Amino acid sequence: MDAARVIDRCVTLAACTEDPGKITRTFLSPPMREVHRLVGRWMSEAGMQVSVDAVGNIRGVWGSGPRLMIGSHLDTVPHAGAFDGILGVMLGIELVEAVKDRALVPYGIPAPYGIEVVGFSDEEGVRFGVPFIGSRALVGDPVMDDTVLEAIRAFDLDPDEIPKAAIGKDIKGYLEFHIEQGPVLEENQLALGVVDAIVGQARAVVEFHGKAGHAGTTPMESRKDALAAAAEWIAVVEKVAIEEQLVATVGRLDVRPGAVNVIPGVARATLDVRHKDTLKLERAMKLLETSAEEISTRRRIKVCWEQRSVQAAVAMDPAMTEVLASAVKAACCQPYRLSSGAGHDAMILARKVPAAMLFLRSPGGISHHPDERVNEGDVASALAAGKAFLETWRPA
Ligand code: HGY
Ligand code: MN
Ligand code: MN
Repeated sequence: MDAARVIDRCVTLAACTEDPGKITRTFLSPPMREVHRLVGRWMSEAGMQVSVDAVGNIRGVWGSGPRLMIGSHLDTVPHAGAFDGILGVMLGIELVEAVKDRALVPYGIPAPYGIEVVGFSDEEGVRFGVPFIGSRALVGDPVMDDTVLEAIRAFDLDPDEIPKAAIGKDIKGYLEFHIEQGPVLEENQLALGVVDAIVGQARAVVEFHGKAGHAGTTPMESRKDALAAAAEWIAVVEKVAIEEQLVATVGRLDVRPGAVNVIPGVARATLDVRHKDTLKLERAMKLLETSAEEISTRRRIKVCWEQRSVQAAVAMDPAMTEVLASAVKAACCQPYRLSSGAGHDAMILARKVPAAMLFLRSPGGISHHPDERVNEGDVASALAAGKAFLETWRPA
C-alpha cells in the first residue's frame, strides 16, 4: 500500500479546477470531467468496473455479491485544500489495490464480499446551496431542483436515470476516511480518530430588501438600508451562537447594486448553523428567523427567509464503529473517539446502511483553505487500519 501515491493523486486532482492557481471544483463543473477520467483510470487499474451515475458520482466496483462501500466527495469549496473529500476516495482505491490480488481472508478463500468505491459529485453544496447532491441520490432522496437537473443535462447525463443511482440491498456498509478538519487529533498528538457522531447542520438564505438610493442626498432617518439591516442581524447570529453554545456562520454576503455611492437595496446572506442536538439546532434557526423579521419590521424593510436544508445529527453505526476501533488498535494507533463538527456523506448513507468514519489528523487544524495538509505517515496508518478493517469486518 502506497501512502505517497494516495497523496500524489490528491495533488494531481487539485489541478482540476475552475479557478487556475486555486482549487475550486463545484458540482458537475467542467474540471469534473478530467477528474472522472483520472479517477476512472485509477479505479480500472485497481481492477474495478467503473461507471458514472446520473448525478455524476463516479463508482468503481471490485468483486461480486454483498459489498462494502468506501467513499467521499470529489467537489470542493472555493479556494480549497487538496484533501477534503478527495483523500477518502483515493484511500478507497488504494485499499482495493491492496486486496485485489488476494482474498480478504487467508488461505485463498474467495473474498467474503466486494468493495465499491464512490467519488461523490457534490457534498459541499457550493454551486446550488444544497449539500449532499451526490450521496442523497444513493439513498433515494435526490435533489430535483430545476437548476440541478439542468446542470446534469449540461454534463451529458440523464436525470431520468437518477433512480438507478440508488444503492441496492447488496451494499452492506459504508466506510468514509476523511481529514478531521479541526484541531483535536493534533492537540492530542494522534494520527487517527474514530468518529462516533456527526453534528446536525441547517442552512438558509436570508434576503433583506430595502431601497437603493443616493448615498449623498438621502437623510439617514429616511433610509431603508438593506446592508445595515443584514449587518445588525449578523451580529445577532454571532451572539446567539455564543449564548447557545453552537456554531453559526454567515459565509457569504451579496450586496446589490454594490456601488460605493448607492445605499444597498438588497443584501443576501447565507447561514450555516450546527449542533449535535437537532432540536437545539432547529430552535436556533427559528430564533434567527424571528430576529431577521424583527429587525426588518423596525427598519421598515422586507426580509425573505429560505430554508435550504436541515440535516439531523447522525450517530455512526455502533457495531461497525467497534470493528473500526479494533482495526485501528490492531494496526497502529489508539482508537480515539470524537464527534465531527463537519458534515460528511456518511450522515446521508447512514440513512440506509451501517456507516463508520475514520479521521486523519489535520496539521494546524486547517481545512477549507489552501494550506490544508495531511501527513504521509498518517495516511500510511489509515491504510493499515483500513486493511485491518477489511480483514475483520463482515457484511451482516
Ligand atoms: O461544511 C461541511 O461541514 C463539510 O465540509 N461539507
Ligand atoms: Mn468540506
Ligand atoms: Mn468534506
